[in-house]
Amino acid sequence: MIKETNSWNPKKYNKHTAFVSQLAMPAVDLLEPKNGEQILDLGCGEGALALEIEKRGAKVIGVDLSEEMVKATGANGIEAYVGTATDLPYSDEFDAIFSNAMLHWVKESRVAVQNIAKALKRGGRFVAELGGEGNAYKLVKAMQEVFENHKEFGTFNNPWHFPSVQEYSDLLNSEGLRVEYIELIPRPTLIDDISNWLDIFANGITKDLTPGQFEIFKLECRDILKEQLYAKESGWSVDYVRLRLKAVKL
Ligand SMILES: C[S@@+](CC[C@H](N)C(=O)[O-])C[C@H]1O[C@@H](n2cnc3c(N)ncnc32)[C@H](O)[C@@H]1O
Repeated sequence: MIKETNSWNPKKYNKHTAFVSQLAMPAVDLLEPKNGEQILDLGCGEGALALEIEKRGAKVIGVDLSEEMVKATGANGIEAYVGTATDLPYSDEFDAIFSNAMLHWVKESRVAVQNIAKALKRGGRFVAELGGEGNAYKLVKAMQEVFENHKEFGTFNNPWHFPSVQEYSDLLNSEGLRVEYIELIPRPTLIDDISNWLDIFANGITKDLTPGQFEIFKLECRDILKEQLYAKESGWSVDYVRLRLKAVKL
């Protein structure tokens, strides 16, 4: 049974965060999809990268927690299902599993990695990019500060886990996936406006706020972050750090 909740709006997502998939091409290159391979795109979103992988000759199956995203992926011509990384219905099935910008949302990372290892064929590869140690540090700190200044907002719950190289390598190795490459990559990323980012990515943090409280939250985060993440010449930039990796099932 799928326990997690998720609300992603593909239209908003595509308009303000196309950078998520556009900047992930190096991860697709690392995957090296081959003709005739069967590849799972885990947390496929609206399918932009699944399409890219199919263009390179592989057959892709997308899985995503969000029904809206799965519909959008289907509309892109990719076979896709609603499902969660922590409960995949596959065993020894895929030549490769790919995942971009999803695994840092999954608190039960060991369970996700166990499911990935089970779904891969022996010798199959797991290629992923996720938020890594230090990712969006200033942003998370600002959001936490605003919650602390407004006791009426309730407790600040961080929905993400951004692992280190050591932590994720140990996890993969201990679940039968031999790490071939893993690197933490600082990637400051230009975005259109911090308010749009908060609208899309902070919904897990702000879901219990009233619409009025949410506006206050966004304005105060914006004020704190303007000094740190905004420059007149280049606009807003988020302090992203990616963890990119490739591992092979033993
Ligand atoms: C930031 S988006 C990235 C989408 C896509 N991979 C891309 O690069 O554009 C994260 C996606 O992960 C999905 N997601 C979150 N938790 C998930 C889970 N436990 N299992 C599967 N998908 C999940 C969300 O629904 C969302 O579509």
